[in-house]
Amino acid sequence: MKSTDQAGFDVEKVRADFPILNQQINGHPLVYLDNAATTQKPQAVIDAIVHYYTHDNSNVHRGAHTLSDRATARFESARKTVADFINAKSTGQIIWTRGASESINLVAASWGSANLEAGDRILVSALEHHSNIVPWQMIADKTGATVVAVPVDATGTIDMAAFSTLLDTRVKLVAFNQVSNALGTINPVEEMIRLAHAVGAKVLVDGAQAIAHWPVDVQAMNCDFYVFSGHKLFGPTGIGVLYGRRELLEQMPPYQGGGEMIETVSFDGTTYNQLPYKFEAGTPDIAGAIGLAAAIDYLNSQDRAALSAHEDALLAYATQKAATVPGLKIVGTAACKAAVLGFVIEGTHPSDIGMLLDQQGIAVRTGHHCAQPIMQQYGIPGTVRASFSFYNTFDDIDRLFVALEKVRQMLL
Ligand code: ALA
Repeated sequence: MKSTDQAGFDVEKVRADFPILNQQINGHPLVYLDNAATTQKPQAVIDAIVHYYTHDNSNVHRGAHTLSDRATARFESARKTVADFINAKSTGQIIWTRGASESINLVAASWGSANLEAGDRILVSALEHHSNIVPWQMIADKTGATVVAVPVDATGTIDMAAFSTLLDTRVKLVAFNQVSNALGTINPVEEMIRLAHAVGAKVLVDGAQAIAHWPVDVQAMNCDFYVFSGHKLFGPTGIGVLYGRRELLEQMPPYQGGGEMIETVSFDGTTYNQLPYKFEAGTPDIAGAIGLAAAIDYLNSQDRAALSAHEDALLAYATQKAATVPGLKIVGTAACKAAVLGFVIEGTHPSDIGMLLDQQGIAVRTGHHCAQPIMQQYGIPGTVRASFSFYNTFDDIDRLFVALEKVRQMLL
């Protein structure tokens, strides 16, 4: 059994910050291995949300009273926290959304309607989550553009030669994830962005599965759009982020109409608010933004390199253990992977494995992981996916494999 980490990393100390981890499920201590679906929340995030609703709750940018001023200050300070976290040049480039999916839908509907026409191409990788496929298909249907998938090899690695070949001046936008949610593949984003820009295409990077694992710098990456969800970054559900290059956001039409996104309204015509408010119709998820900022503050208080190294060690340990299980096939074996172990076991169905693991207190996700095209490529309906975070332990992984052995004996 392995139980060592880089000197100085104390997993029990960080676990103590996540109260949900300390509970029994079906008579067993919880082993939470579904972090790619959603991450757990540190006490600091829970406290920030409770504090907001206990002391500051009010609408933002509207009231002429102290509570509204306080809520507005905290809400806008959260935006600054996000801008700094991903190294955006300005808070005007940080648009609040409900999550990565809504961020992509916003870009597809707004940028897409203004910039795409018949004959244009949108490239996505074959590794994408449905959220980074369907919005592009929807805008392609409206504009006459075509969505083209960049092939992925048997390990789950994007075929960069094919990507280069597909890139021509018909390609107006390239959208791909930084990390695949289903397989864990880490994509070579900087290289892909450089190649896409060379043919004049814009690039949207779906950071939903990457943002929790290592620092992101949108200026160094040189992407045009970057999206992520708060709940995969130890923050609340219902809050997400769209980062965009300022000149693109300035040119894009509003996504939804309503309050906040306007400057003036009359029946002779309406003028729109400045960035970022132009894209924020309606009362936003104020508590969500404050909770997300608390999650970022929490992460910033940690040694992020040590957290990443711990996750890498967990993945390596789990991968090595998986190789010893008879009939187990890992799905997604790219050379560069984030902390995701997807697998199938010959003669069993993933959902049966998931249910039997849950009976032993182990939470994993099973199924197609909202990535049916890549499952189709492997000729499987789905996988069992164990996904790790820095609060997982080597003991969690031992427990997974002991439980899997029991499951094998039950099912085979
Ligand atoms: N996109 C999330 C996942 O991969 C829900 O599980």
